[in-house]
Amino acid sequence: MSPSPAECAEVLRRQIDEAGKAYHERDEQLIPDADYDRLVRELEALEAAHPDLVQADSPTQRVGGKASSRFAEVRHAVPMLSLGNAFSDEEVQDFVRRIGERLRRDALYFSAEPKLDGLAISLRYENGRFVQGATRGDGATGEDVSANLRQIEVIPQSLAGEGWPQVLEVRGEVYMARADFEAYNAQARLHEGKVLANPRNAAAGSLRQLDPKMSARRKLSFYAYGTGQVQGGELPATHSATLAQLRAWGFPVSDLCKVVEGSDGLLAYYRDIGERRDGLAFDIDGVVYKLDDRAGQEQMGFVSRAPRWAIAHKFPAQEQTTTVEAIEIQIGRTGAATPVARLAPVAVAGVIVSNATLHNADQIARLDVRVGDTVIVRRAGDVIPEVVSVIADRRPDGATPWRMPSQCPVCGSEIVREEDAAAWRCSGELSCPAQRKEAIAHFASRRAMDIDGLGGKYIETLVDAGIVRGVADLYRLTRDQLLQLKLVLDAESPEALAAQIGLHLPPEGSGEYLRRILQLDGTDDRWRAQALAMPAAFTWNTKKIATRWADNLIAAIDASRDTTLERLLFALGIEHVGESTAKALATWFGDLELIRQLPWPLFKRVPDIGGEVARSLGHFFEQAGNQDAINALLQVGQVRITDTHAPSAKLREGLDFAQVLVESEIPGITRLRAEKLVAMLPDAAAVLDAEAVRFVAAGLPNEVALGLANWLDSDGHGPMLFKAEQCRQQLLARAPEQVEQVAGPLDGQTVVLTGTLAQMTRDEAKARLEALGAKVSGSVSKKTAFVVAGTEAGSKLAKAGELGIEVWDEDRLVAFLAQH
Ligand code: IVH
Repeated sequence: MSPSPAECAEVLRRQIDEAGKAYHERDEQLIPDADYDRLVRELEALEAAHPDLVQADSPTQRVGGKASSRFAEVRHAVPMLSLGNAFSDEEVQDFVRRIGERLRRDALYFSAEPKLDGLAISLRYENGRFVQGATRGDGATGEDVSANLRQIEVIPQSLAGEGWPQVLEVRGEVYMARADFEAYNAQARLHEGKVLANPRNAAAGSLRQLDPKMSARRKLSFYAYGTGQVQGGELPATHSATLAQLRAWGFPVSDLCKVVEGSDGLLAYYRDIGERRDGLAFDIDGVVYKLDDRAGQEQMGFVSRAPRWAIAHKFPAQEQTTTVEAIEIQIGRTGAATPVARLAPVAVAGVIVSNATLHNADQIARLDVRVGDTVIVRRAGDVIPEVVSVIADRRPDGATPWRMPSQCPVCGSEIVREEDAAAWRCSGELSCPAQRKEAIAHFASRRAMDIDGLGGKYIETLVDAGIVRGVADLYRLTRDQLLQLKLVLDAESPEALAAQIGLHLPPEGSGEYLRRILQLDGTDDRWRAQALAMPAAFTWNTKKIATRWADNLIAAIDASRDTTLERLLFALGIEHVGESTAKALATWFGDLELIRQLPWPLFKRVPDIGGEVARSLGHFFEQAGNQDAINALLQVGQVRITDTHAPSAKLREGLDFAQVLVESEIPGITRLRAEKLVAMLPDAAAVLDAEAVRFVAAGLPNEVALGLANWLDSDGHGPMLFKAEQCRQQLLARAPEQVEQVAGPLDGQTVVLTGTLAQMTRDEAKARLEALGAKVSGSVSKKTAFVVAGTEAGSKLAKAGELGIEVWDEDRLVAFLAQH
């Protein structure tokens, strides 16, 4: 027997009430908005068909939540109403038609506005000063959240301009901008705090914090969209003019508000804002249309909980429910293991979503997401879709908690957790193909080695085929290999490839044959890489294919061989080493051979390089695989660094052994203590040989002395310090002394070169004269000290004669230069 309409209505009311209560009173979301809206509409339809079922306390008859008792109650002088919803063009057209009929008007103008997804607020101003702010509550009574509202910068404490009514209530939406929401959650994830589901929950939650300081921590914004009570003054006759007036009094009003005509104008506005939705700085869940003139509004009046002169036109929801089919691990360039939920595909805000990030293992643990769970996924703006919560009562029996696998799904290396960090990492580094592909793509990218034309899918196939194992292999690619690569990538199937490369057709068909020799089953799509990996199995007929791409790529690879130290350092893809750090390293140390052997504390001598970046550099160069990769790159004929130079003279400043101790971040070792220590134990060997008592004798406090002894004995610190000291000496030996500006023999003298020199070029002569302090000029004057004349000297020599200026021949110049 199917349930009666009364029973259906009862169930619907209970579901709506439960979700509404959780949402409005506890800032908790049990079901996605779209589901909530659907339940309300079902109930509305049911009540419309059976008017006897309508009850005074039905959710269709009242607004939102009930005021919670933690805050003082505020009775709204003018009730805060809700809006009816439209989900289709027809519903919008009906809305406009109803108004036209009742007002007997043809032309109707509306204020069209974005519907920000936040929390409705009423702000009360008396004689221009903010006196009280309240939430909507049940529409009649809300909560006094004045203290929290005072923390919102954009809400004026007193009104700007003039002409405000004695009492003015401004209504609008408190919301959190997307960037502020992302920043807040990033912090929360880092510090194991509570991650907020969406910007609206974030805004609602922080406004209802009892401690205003807590709400100040979350950055909230506000925009005004209307007014409540107005006494002792008047507002303009239209809504749009009222918004302009509010703006003049200091309230933020959205730039997206616009006056449009008729349903065509409204629908065009809806589409326009819909297209811009993803790029906005805040979440909107639709647009709102309001009849612009107040007289018309008054004539239209209200139904139970909403005005007849306004309506909300909703966008497709940014949140949807779906189920988790699997939880997989993705490995990034630096090895970070990010869990990703594979989802039953679902349309979210107009885009099909089938993957969503779970951020990290801690986040999964917090949400307790399990395979088989029904979850709420959210997609907003350009951010990657994410799983925001699990619908607990829809969990299938037997679902087990998820755990980070112990091995990398790509290379099988151990997945390890970084100390003090939420991140897990594959320890395979460049032996892990996933990391290798990312690393190679970064190496080839424009700002790194700039190998134009080597896109992601080429790299992927080359790595899978085993042709490119590391970045150095890029420099060994042949034109034939690239042409073959193009062939396999352009082929749609093994059969198509077989036809292309002119395979002899066996009876069962070429594709079958190909599959068999490649040992593939029907579902495998690795055939491209496999075919490429065994080029000898085929006669590649590359004659007919276009060769431009391959030729250009070979040229780009060749062009990248001569490079700068700065580019190469950036291209290596060392964690935390961006372009500016790479440049600083190149400038300060000048030589890769030096850099690649430095222990991490010495990197801290470069301004702007702190402990974290220095450790990352040290760690990178400690890995044998990375050193091998660099060796392979520098092998003759591969990559050449063209700007190697001596370390900067500035490196010498303060680079004594005591400073090496300080940079090593040994617990308790300050500069002062390091100096005391070095006074007694002048070098690394002495420090390494000494016992803790000697450190005490040198003047260190007992616990620091013991700490130092322990430090030296643990984690390879002793040998590291020894090496650091060796490298320090090397640096001092190679960095030039700060050249004091010594007076040159030609300081302040102007010299002119003319004619042709036999033993050097004019440029060389100029450079060497300048090095001795001379200014080399192009014309002879009274101020010229002397003229150097080569053969076939002309007018300048004559001029020198006229002015009686000394003339040198080339031999005299050469003798002079040899002397100085
Ligand atoms: S007008 C009597 N305008 O949407 C009219 N509301 O579902 C009352 N909202 O409670 C509301 N942007 O929290 C209006 N431009 C806008 C809005 C807006 C967002 C919210 C507001 C309201 C809810 C109604």
